[in-house]
Amino acid sequence: MIFSMVKYSVSFLVEIIFTSSDACLMNYFAQVSGENLQLARAELDALVKLCPFNIEITWLGRVAKLQAASNPTEFLLDRAALVKRAGILMGEFSHEESIIEGIIDDSWKDNVLPSDRFSVRTICIESEYNQKERVKIEKELGAHIQSITGAKVELRSPNSNILVIILAGRFLVCKSIESKLRHLLREREPGKKPFFHPSMMNSILARTMCNLAGVRPGNTVLDPFCGGGGILCEAAYIGALVIGIDKNWRLLEGARRNLSAINSKYSVIQADALHLPVQTVDHIVTDPPYGRSSSTRGTESRELLDSLLRKAPSILQSSGENLCVCASSDMGLSEMIRDAGFRIGHEIKMIVHSGLVREIVTVNL
Ligand SMILES: C[S@@+](CC[C@H](N)C(=O)[O-])C[C@H]1O[C@@H](n2cnc3c(N)ncnc32)[C@H](O)[C@@H]1O
Repeated sequence: MIFSMVKYSVSFLVEIIFTSSDACLMNYFAQVSGENLQLARAELDALVKLCPFNIEITWLGRVAKLQAASNPTEFLLDRAALVKRAGILMGEFSHEESIIEGIIDDSWKDNVLPSDRFSVRTICIESEYNQKERVKIEKELGAHIQSITGAKVELRSPNSNILVIILAGRFLVCKSIESKLRHLLREREPGKKPFFHPSMMNSILARTMCNLAGVRPGNTVLDPFCGGGGILCEAAYIGALVIGIDKNWRLLEGARRNLSAINSKYSVIQADALHLPVQTVDHIVTDPPYGRSSSTRGTESRELLDSLLRKAPSILQSSGENLCVCASSDMGLSEMIRDAGFRIGHEIKMIVHSGLVREIVTVNL
């Protein structure tokens, strides 16, 4: 009797899960920056893991096709430093001729309201397409959407953007929203902060590293080499409580000024990272001293890193990829992490200029 009840409930559950998720799955897209595709993909992967629902990702070069039961694009645009635009993927075609008949009228009515002012644009990614053909697609699709929805075409300041992404052999028809965060990140570059020092981490990489470490609002984030607070500021913008340690009090004072301007919850402590005055945090996101612009103050960078790696397991509250470190590639960061017996999550090289290659690594503790 008990056996048959269990059997029944299991098959019922399986049926519900199957039908609900399958019926409601929708297609979305995100286009990432091409500067460092490996880093951009890693950031998107990390953010997808923070979503409370399952998301399947299929990469087509710089474009991620996302299949999910809820729309993740608002969250991704809000968080990702390397997502340029994202939105609803309305249709995918292998021939230009199929674009108009391939999307049902109801889908246009759901996505473009009669009161909208919309534009239709085409962009080529890793592909070339005849300019005349592109204009033809834009005009024909614009007229088609207008005839179905009653919305007006407005190219200068549309409130709704239809985008046809032309990839090699594919046309993705999307309702697209541009990233506002990328503009904000440029406005928050170190040189535009109340306090500036050349050793400060730029805001795009700082945000990307916080995302790779899986920082959520309300979490505590430690940067044991916080300098003027480039990383801490981005963690604070996400809504984390931030703790900064540095040996240099002038830089700490700068970090305090920068963090105060954001209205964040923070502590900055003057200390040597070899003797961290911190008990537990949720994440460590940091870049130890390297290069000409930041001083190691007599202690070798590798020694500082080694000490941090030894203490990290007892400082971090939970297991997972909660530690993200960026260092000059000649420091041998990934070998040090492996030698310390930890598993590496992401390991990404980034060419800054001919004399500096950075290595960004997440550690699975
Ligand atoms: C690359 S900068 C950090 C930039 C910073 N993470 C940011 O987000 O802008 C390295 C920092 O390490 C600090 N530092 C060097 N040796 C240290 C030590 N033993 N303990 C703590 N901080 C140290 C330097 O003063 C410098 O501010």
